[in-house]
Amino acid sequence: MVRHLPLFVSLSSPAPRHDGDVDMIAETLALAGNKMRLRPFTLDDAPRVTELLNNWSVAAMLARVPFPYTEADGKAWISTHAETRKAGTDWPFAIEMKQGLVGAIGIHQTAPDTMEFGYWLGEPYWNKGIATEAARTLINFAFDILAIEKLTAGHYINNPASGRVLTKSGFEKTGESTRPCLAQDKDMASIDYHLTRERWQAQNKPL
Ligand SMILES: CC(C)(COP(=O)(O)OP(=O)(O)OC[C@H]1O[C@@H](n2cnc3c(N)ncnc32)[C@H](O)[C@@H]1OP(=O)(O)O)[C@@H](O)C(=O)NCCC(=O)NCCS
Repeated sequence: MVRHLPLFVSLSSPAPRHDGDVDMIAETLALAGNKMRLRPFTLDDAPRVTELLNNWSVAAMLARVPFPYTEADGKAWISTHAETRKAGTDWPFAIEMKQGLVGAIGIHQTAPDTMEFGYWLGEPYWNKGIATEAARTLINFAFDILAIEKLTAGHYINNPASGRVLTKSGFEKTGESTRPCLAQDKDMASIDYHLTRERWQAQNKPL
């Protein structure tokens, strides 16, 4: 059974709101947005993930996605999810709408209280506000339920749409760097961002 966790904004306490029962959350979590829900992937999603990711315009903007992308790649990726989610290091979610799975969004632990934010949508679903809504849902989960201190993110300089998603979601630019790109087999000039707990709290102050 899928349990929809209510997302409250707790401005005072940074203590995790899951009472340590990460296993329970990992197995049953689904986050509700207005237009979509975020849910864990299953191996049955591999063909659809492959259909959407085997697209140069998507893969070439992502760090760790091979191109061409095969169903074996999809199954191998999804197969890692249960373990890393249980460990609390990775929280990957399928973005699901009425028409089915349209993309993915997730966070990956890079330091004790810091997680790196990433997302992609199938090309037919771009520019409809979907990534921004999914981002808002996952950001609230990261700060409110997991009680982390900071989210980081980055995009290649030729990907301004991703920069818009990040700034619309409250991230601020912290600098520039190079980031690897598996599909392009090279390092790419990138723009780096972060969203601190303090900044998130300030943006979510009750009226
Ligand atoms: C980046 C991506 C996730 C954006 O998803 P999305 O659902 O289209 O994003 P949203 O609709 O919520 O917001 C997109 C914003 O970018 C803007 N945008 C789109 N193309 C743009 C461009 N070439 N230059 C500047 N802004 C652009 C849109 O106008 C919109 O901003 P607005 O709301 O101010 O008008 C999607 O394009 C994608 O999956 N790309 C391939 C994978 C990828 O880049 N992942 C992120 C890696 S860092």
